[in-house]
Amino acid sequence: MENEILPNLFKNKKNIKIWSAACSTGEEPYSLAMLLTKFLPLNMITIIATDIDKGALSKAIQGIYSEKSLENLPKAFIQKFFIKENNQYMISDEIKSRVKFRQHNLLKDPYEKNCDLIICRNVMIYFTEEAKSEMYHKFHDSLNNNGILFVGSTEQIILPHRYKLKPVKTFFYTKSV
Ligand SMILES: C[S@@+](CC[C@H](N)C(=O)[O-])C[C@H]1O[C@@H](n2cnc3c(N)ncnc32)[C@H](O)[C@@H]1O
Repeated sequence: MENEILPNLFKNKKNIKIWSAACSTGEEPYSLAMLLTKFLPLNMITIIATDIDKGALSKAIQGIYSEKSLENLPKAFIQKFFIKENNQYMISDEIKSRVKFRQHNLLKDPYEKNCDLIICRNVMIYFTEEAKSEMYHKFHDSLNNNGILFVGSTEQIILPHRYKLKPVKTFFYTKSV
């Protein structure tokens, strides 16, 4: 993501639309917002983050995490973007304000349009083949040309050309048409 996908996306434009689908308690979109600060000023970053679960979304909006959940985050990000209180880490307002959380059901609700990057990880495993197939078609339609879909490490898309998607790297797909 950092060394290839984002530099490529930013080659043509700076203002990219990002959707973190099934974001659960916010770790994914917040980590991505932190990573994006290596490429853009914070005020140019907006990430739409959705999940079906209202409880998860309200935790995400709170942005309070245990030390353990931060163990894979670079130390520099922890120092820069968190405030430590007792044994909890609160995400800074400057990062929080860049992520817009809303409820969304991937099986039922309309999908975002004109996305340059969609992250949807570790949710498709729960869906039937039919639902997955419908979802991949919808993700295809949600992406801009050259847009990227990033899936989970156990969620490689079988025969992606069926959905007019092509792999650019393991777990990353773009539109083929
Ligand atoms: C295992 S978590 C993955 C969270 C995060 N993407 C990650 O990889 O760490 C699965 C998430 O999918 C959400 N989810 C399940 N069914 C969904 C649906 N139909 N639409 C949107 N989100 C859904 C759950 O609420 C949960 O937050």
